[in-house]
Amino acid sequence: SPPPRDQGEAGVQEATSYWMSESGVVDLMVLPGPSPAHIFRQYAALTGVTPLPPKFALGYHQCRWNYNDEADVRYVHGQFEALDIPYDVLWLDIEHTDGKRYFTWDSFKFPEPKKMQEELAATGRKMVTIVDPHIKKDSNYKVYQEAHEKELFIKTKDGNELDGWCWPGSSAYLDFTSAEVRDWWAGRFAYDKYEGSTPSLYTWNDMNEPSVFNGPEVSMNKDAKSLAGVEHREWHNLYGMYMQQATAEGLLKRNPEQDKRPFVLSRSFYAGSQRWGAIWTGDNACKWDHLEASVPMLLTLGLCGITFSGADVGGFLGKGGGYGDPTAELFTRWFQAGAYTPFFRGHAHHDSKRREPWTFDDETTARLREIGKQRYQLLSYWYTLFYFAETTGMPTMRPLWVEFPTDPKTFDMDHEFMSGGALLVRPVTSPLATSATVYFPGTCPWYDIVDGTQYMGSSEATVSAPIDKVPVYQRGGTIVPRQMRLRRSSALMGADPYTLVIAPGANGTAEGSLYLDAGDGFSYKKGEYQLATYKYADGVLSVSKVAGTTFAATNLLERVELLGVKPPTFAVLKQAGVEKSLSFLYNEASKRLVLRKPAVLMAPAVDWTITLL
Ligand code: NOJ
Repeated sequence: SPPPRDQGEAGVQEATSYWMSESGVVDLMVLPGPSPAHIFRQYAALTGVTPLPPKFALGYHQCRWNYNDEADVRYVHGQFEALDIPYDVLWLDIEHTDGKRYFTWDSFKFPEPKKMQEELAATGRKMVTIVDPHIKKDSNYKVYQEAHEKELFIKTKDGNELDGWCWPGSSAYLDFTSAEVRDWWAGRFAYDKYEGSTPSLYTWNDMNEPSVFNGPEVSMNKDAKSLAGVEHREWHNLYGMYMQQATAEGLLKRNPEQDKRPFVLSRSFYAGSQRWGAIWTGDNACKWDHLEASVPMLLTLGLCGITFSGADVGGFLGKGGGYGDPTAELFTRWFQAGAYTPFFRGHAHHDSKRREPWTFDDETTARLREIGKQRYQLLSYWYTLFYFAETTGMPTMRPLWVEFPTDPKTFDMDHEFMSGGALLVRPVTSPLATSATVYFPGTCPWYDIVDGTQYMGSSEATVSAPIDKVPVYQRGGTIVPRQMRLRRSSALMGADPYTLVIAPGANGTAEGSLYLDAGDGFSYKKGEYQLATYKYADGVLSVSKVAGTTFAATNLLERVELLGVKPPTFAVLKQAGVEKSLSFLYNEASKRLVLRKPAVLMAPAVDWTITLL
């Protein structure tokens, strides 16, 4: 038996935790590790992984409760286009429906939903509509009527259809714990069932705790019963996951060609929800401390396997939640933090002022455009992280200790984080800040991604962080692929060339990878992808290995940037025995070397090397 708490071995910290079970047994699994990466793999083996999202889902999402009508959608879309602010997805909240009857449209505000989606799709954009689990009790509403006749709803303890109050008023709740109900629900997403839907329409599942306004703890009575006769207290935490599963299966089913991956955002989740889509942290408020709290919240989700996660950028509750609207400063800082988290969506309560990126002032619009651009430059980096999340269980957004498990200073640090293994992010989360304190972990050097300034590992520095700067550092020893051309959406970037940014480690070497595939669909499961890994050592950059086979990626390498290096005399590109000298630029102050136009394939059939002499 363990020693009493106050008599633990000298220097050994003890932690105690308690479990309580409202019903049933507690299954305790011990994941032996030993490293964080091992634990993620072991946890993934138990609960599943996040499948590779469609690439567009890693772009910027613009949401609001609500975009009022088709003209509003066109206006918002048009502003992004006109102002060159990258975005991929426009969202519609509950008001787009006919009286909160999901799978329908308000025919006055949205008379031509297909045309609206097709217009967006023609510019590579997608749309998301909300579909909640509470179904309006209305015998003229087909979804309700059919589910009622088939008896697919949760029952009270006495066996009657449960009646709860939610957005549409009196509502019934589908029993998503039943495979039969999930199958029926999945069928609702067929194009002929969900009228006005098109292949570029995706789904948002909200209120799926399940939320019942007039129920205990804003949910159902604990003794409500599933169709199998099991009490709500047993499956409360599973309900949201099952709903998201049924929805994702619906989006898969509607598309037998298998060329589209589902995208479903859910508010409620459980261990294993990562298999079905993304999660957001719910109703935060437009307050600095909620911005600050979003980082530990997202880190915790990632540790629990749910790596495709985000917090509402800007803070959802403004005036409507008793708070003010975000100042340009708070919104900018939130946009900066959000741009480095896995799921990046701006959202706002209907009582708040409009806060799309152009609604503050011209200077702020320009800043937000720059931040959006930073996100899109790194889209393929994120995509590669998600490839590794699917294949290894590694979270994409990580606490510092996951990367530096032998550095105790990182153990309780949650105001800085890693986007993947290569980028350290220190979002500014307090007002009027012009500087920030950053801890640089490990023994490697770190490089400011904007000006190349070098910092040593295991040191702390106060860095300048005016409003137009989000402190982000590339870890020495890494190579990061970037796409530097400003495009308005991910769809327009597919063929764009890449820049490889090399940050040498203490021993002068670096490594990185790039995953490329069709960006959507499931052909990657059959080997239609390319995984290229790049190595830099002894002044030579090489493509060291390419996995995957049949996907022909045509993207070229247009530039190589080396940070913290001395100027070479020559730079020579070699491929298939042919040598070509590359021109370069060197900046003495920042020690940044830029090699111009290698113009070789990122994932070549015949390997190339670039040698600095
Ligand atoms: C609650 C959700 O958390 C919020 O994001 C949404 O806008 C409202 N429900 C209305 O659907």
